Amino acid sequence: MVIDIKNAAQHSGKEVEFRGWCHNLRSSGSIMFLQLRDGTGRIQGVVPKSEVSAETWAAAQTLTIESSVIVRGVIKDEIRAPSGVELVVKDVQPVSIAAEYPIGKKEHGIDFLMDQRHLWMRSPRQEAILRIRDEISFALREFFKLRGFVLTDSPIFTPNAVEGTTDLFEVKYFDDKAYLSQSGQLYLEATSAALAKTYCFGPVFRSEKSKTRRHLTEFWMLEAEAVYMDWLENMRLQEDMLVHVLRRILRERRDDLKTIERNTATLEKASEGGFPRIHYNEAVAQLQKLGSDVKQGDDFGGDDETILTKQYEKPIFIHHYPAAIKAFYMKPDPNEPEHVLNNDLLAPEGYGEVIGGSQRIDDLALLEKRLEEHKLPKEAFAWYTDLRRYGSVPHSGFGIGLERTVAWVCGLEHVRESIPFARTLNRLTP
Ligand code: 4AD
Ligand code: MG
Repeated sequence: MVIDIKNAAQHSGKEVEFRGWCHNLRSSGSIMFLQLRDGTGRIQGVVPKSEVSAETWAAAQTLTIESSVIVRGVIKDEIRAPSGVELVVKDVQPVSIAAEYPIGKKEHGIDFLMDQRHLWMRSPRQEAILRIRDEISFALREFFKLRGFVLTDSPIFTPNAVEGTTDLFEVKYFDDKAYLSQSGQLYLEATSAALAKTYCFGPVFRSEKSKTRRHLTEFWMLEAEAVYMDWLENMRLQEDMLVHVLRRILRERRDDLKTIERNTATLEKASEGGFPRIHYNEAVAQLQKLGSDVKQGDDFGGDDETILTKQYEKPIFIHHYPAAIKAFYMKPDPNEPEHVLNNDLLAPEGYGEVIGGSQRIDDLALLEKRLEEHKLPKEAFAWYTDLRRYGSVPHSGFGIGLERTVAWVCGLEHVRESIPFARTLNRLTP
């Protein structure tokens, strides 16, 4: 019977077949140890020379690291094994003998490993990270389904900018030009006016020339938008969403978190909810006290975010940023018009901004004025301003970056490990 390695313990005492790869092996002349993996888990296979046929022994001897192989044997309890079981091998069927594997036991530099990303992802740590990424994506979708949001996919070819004109990727579009989408938000504002609560989840693109541990040129963002939702309810929704995601990860991905040696204390803490909400002015004052040279009106750099988040054990919301440093669509607070009804969510442990959200301008005249101030072409935004012409309502939304979330949840040093194939300023391959 073919089974997944992850289910091996349930088949103790039985004869089973695994189809996978030999990710490592060692031999002592009379016994061979095969580290087998099949994408669902890992198990040690023991081949005792005296108990297998001469053909099986010879076949096992041909195996190399990462050779693909079909193995049959009997599952045996083994308290010293991480999964509690091992396989006493009876039969070995090599499928394809691998050439000398470029990734060895010695330490490799990160550039080498990123060049070998197509192979590196087979290592236990990378495999675990990708499984956690999958679980986060699923938990996000699950949350919005449970809350009655409708998935409306936003286009990737777009005629205009959303998040500023400086980091747009331009592409040829027949005889014209188009841009790769920086955000699906404007389209969500249209779909939410049709379906009340909508979200999209897809790749977005920014040609930011930032070589930081937080920036990719292609990343995945889940964006949500809801009508008649104000900025306070918007933060509440973000908090509920993160709590839902964290609880699911802590429940379903324990083994993977253990594999990557993630200290889960901060994740447990965050999964309680109750994230502090801090006004931008207060954040600036705090930062200045902590020795930052940030001034009123400035945006926070990565270092500022790190200093600030280190003061709290949970993620924090910073709201009411100055309008001047934020996107054109954010609604100014009528009580302090120099500040907008927005929020960033900063993750703890120095991870910084993971979510950006805001209440949107719902007044046509003000929106048109803001477009002008940002020197954005009126014609390209005609359909968007229409939304304020035909039954405008107060509405809010946000976007959560998947890679930054994965990086925080996994405790990664850099977002490049949080996505199967990272795209950065310096990398387009593999
Ligand atoms: O703060 P941003 O730019 O917000 C928007 O795009 C809004 N239109 C979202 C909305 O309200 N619908 O980006 C949102 C999130 C950031 O908080 C961050 O997590 C992630 O996207 N992000 C990046 N992740 C990786 N690499 C980059 N270059 C990123 N830029 C933003
Ligand atoms: Mg932002």
